[in-house]
Amino acid sequence: SSVTVHAPATIANVGCGFDVLGICLTAPYDTVRLTRRDQPGLVIRHLDNYDLPTDPYRNVAGAALLALLREVPEPIGFEVEITKGIRPGSGIGSSAASAAGAVVAANALLGNRFDNKKLVDLAMYGEAVASGVRHADNIAPAVCGGFTLVRAVQPVLDVVALPAPPLWVAVVHPQFEVKTREARAVLPTQVPLSLAVRQWANVGGLVAGFLTHDSELISRALEDYIVEPARAALIPGLADAKQRALAAGALGGGISGSGPSIFMLNQNEATAHAAAEAMGRVYQKMGIEFHLHVGPI
Ligand code: HSE
Repeated sequence: SSVTVHAPATIANVGCGFDVLGICLTAPYDTVRLTRRDQPGLVIRHLDNYDLPTDPYRNVAGAALLALLREVPEPIGFEVEITKGIRPGSGIGSSAASAAGAVVAANALLGNRFDNKKLVDLAMYGEAVASGVRHADNIAPAVCGGFTLVRAVQPVLDVVALPAPPLWVAVVHPQFEVKTREARAVLPTQVPLSLAVRQWANVGGLVAGFLTHDSELISRALEDYIVEPARAALIPGLADAKQRALAAGALGGGISGSGPSIFMLNQNEATAHAAAEAMGRVYQKMGIEFHLHVGPI
């Protein structure tokens, strides 16, 4: 038997919520097809042109599935076919999507024996292969949908899944590479308490704004005082793109995950398109190729 899932792109951090907040997009998505095998082991194929590793230990879906198979008493395996709809390295959770899609599909083939929290935990093994860090802020929204708060990863994973606010996202993906590893190396190791206070005030405000659909509060609370300033130098055009998207009516936004994509939240579809196009014009002028995504959360 086979199962096919669409594994969606996600935006990690969502402004002020470094490593804890994430939102799920409706598109783009990876397509992951799993077929159960009666012999142990994984056979992985990529039906796309990204030249990603198919060795199960080096493939994000493979690493997640190996972790899952360790929890399964039956001597089974899977044939895995992945079609990447999300460009690797784009900053919208490409590796998380494949890992999340693989464990969700496997779970369906196994009679849904694992809950979402366990699936997040297993998919994080795939994320670790891609970025060297077992973070869950892309995995959690990819598995649970909506928006998620990863309250803790250690000692026990604690994911709070919340309904998506009725917003539209505009994403520009400029075609240069920012490695998550490098984007984490530039971060401060210490933060002044005054800045930390402003930051967690924004995180609380943003979650409240999402839950009460208060777009003005969302707009005020999105700003990241700690991580984005340190990463801005890695993303030429960031300040300009944000400013133009705000002028086009967006509520606010920032670097998506560790970049290079930039996301902006919007109250409706028309504003989201205007914000995306405004950001696209910035990169067009800079002579940098880009892709745009617009969709509801
Ligand atoms: N929270 C992570 C970071 C996401 O910003 O480094 C990376 O995809």
